[in-house]
Amino acid sequence: MNHVDQNSLDWSSQPGRPLRGSVRVPGDKSVSHRALMLAAIAEGDSRIRGFLEGEDTRATAAVLSQLGVRIETPSAGERVVHGVGLHGLRGSSQPLDCGNAGTGMRLLTGLLAGQAFDSTLVGDDSLSKRPMRRVTDPLASMGARIDTRDGLPPLHVHGGQPLRGIHYELPVASAQVKSALLLAGLYAAGETQIVEPHPTRDYTERMLAAFGWPITFSPGHARLAGGHVLRATDVDVPADFSSAAFFLVAASIAPGSELRLPAVGLNPRRTGLLQALRLMGADITVEQEREAGGEPVGDLVVRHAPLHGVELPEALVPDMIDEFPALFIAAAVAGGRTVIRGAAELRVKESDRIATMATGLRALGAMIEETPDGAIIHGGRLGAGTVESHLDHRIAMSFAVAGLVATGPVQINDCRHVATSFPGFLELANGCGFALQAAV
Ligand code: S3P
Repeated sequence: MNHVDQNSLDWSSQPGRPLRGSVRVPGDKSVSHRALMLAAIAEGDSRIRGFLEGEDTRATAAVLSQLGVRIETPSAGERVVHGVGLHGLRGSSQPLDCGNAGTGMRLLTGLLAGQAFDSTLVGDDSLSKRPMRRVTDPLASMGARIDTRDGLPPLHVHGGQPLRGIHYELPVASAQVKSALLLAGLYAAGETQIVEPHPTRDYTERMLAAFGWPITFSPGHARLAGGHVLRATDVDVPADFSSAAFFLVAASIAPGSELRLPAVGLNPRRTGLLQALRLMGADITVEQEREAGGEPVGDLVVRHAPLHGVELPEALVPDMIDEFPALFIAAAVAGGRTVIRGAAELRVKESDRIATMATGLRALGAMIEETPDGAIIHGGRLGAGTVESHLDHRIAMSFAVAGLVATGPVQINDCRHVATSFPGFLELANGCGFALQAAV
């Protein structure tokens, strides 16, 4: 693949200055993927502002272009998508490369299941190890035909399969699975109804409504029927809470810090880390809470505060599922013990995040016990050491945060995947006080 730098990019992170100033993090990844997909199959032209210029979302844009959608880039962070309508996509004889993006691949699988043409979806080494039956099984019960390699990518989606709506109770809380089924449901006869074991992010539901598709939803439920039309609309993408998360933890643990993070998306299904950090004693306030593009946003102000360990309430897990790597760092330097349970999903993210964080933290001298669905972390001091990113952007950025407070340099191997979700992380981080260096 050529959209990710093939050169290994190692980082070294050391204690810097106290973190100060204002950090504007990039656009939300989940919202950017969905905005592209819905705009592509809408009638008319949609403008997306605040679009995440990450490898993941650019991969989705490239796939949609390959399927015949014209997408313009008037400026960085902006896209104009010329929608082709629900039945206007054209098949491609070439594989559709989703890069590192689980969200891209799973949502596109739902979208492509209802098309008249065949498609093959491929991904990078990390994505090629991620489970896909969670989407292909329920899609099969809607009438889709999808071949996998033992449940893993590449996926071959057969076209021309008539779909019918289903009532599906998700076995695991997953917004990607829910969204894939809702997208297939646009092409299905009858009603598709989804029930979740715990409510997950509802961007697909909100955005379908914004594009004019009749949909009923509430936390944990979504219901729609096929046979309507999506009408182009403009989308304002908020700053990604998951990118802000690294700075929330960093400023909380680095003495003397005070950081402002403007206009961050505060959808309640995303902000579990805010509650978790506050339970640990963090000093984070939300200022100027407002609505932008149908989503709650606000400016986050975070000041250093001594943290203590907690038994993390399991109910918070789905609302902070992407923030655990950062939370592990906070817990490793907090006073006392932090217990995480009910988070087995972490094992099937871009890496097995329980194992990669436990191994990395141990390399820095932390005491951490892995459990099948979480970890017990004994807080203390972190020392110098070398850790592996395992091709996982969030692991790399989390250990960059650890380097701020470790007693010696933290070397993080192979950080090139940070560009999937957070291009410019290194510059932004160094701009507010980190001491991060990259070596190709
Ligand atoms: C996402 C859902 C979550 C999350 C991922 C983005 C989405 O995955 O971890 O980063 O945009 O729907 P799961 O659906 O697998 O929990």
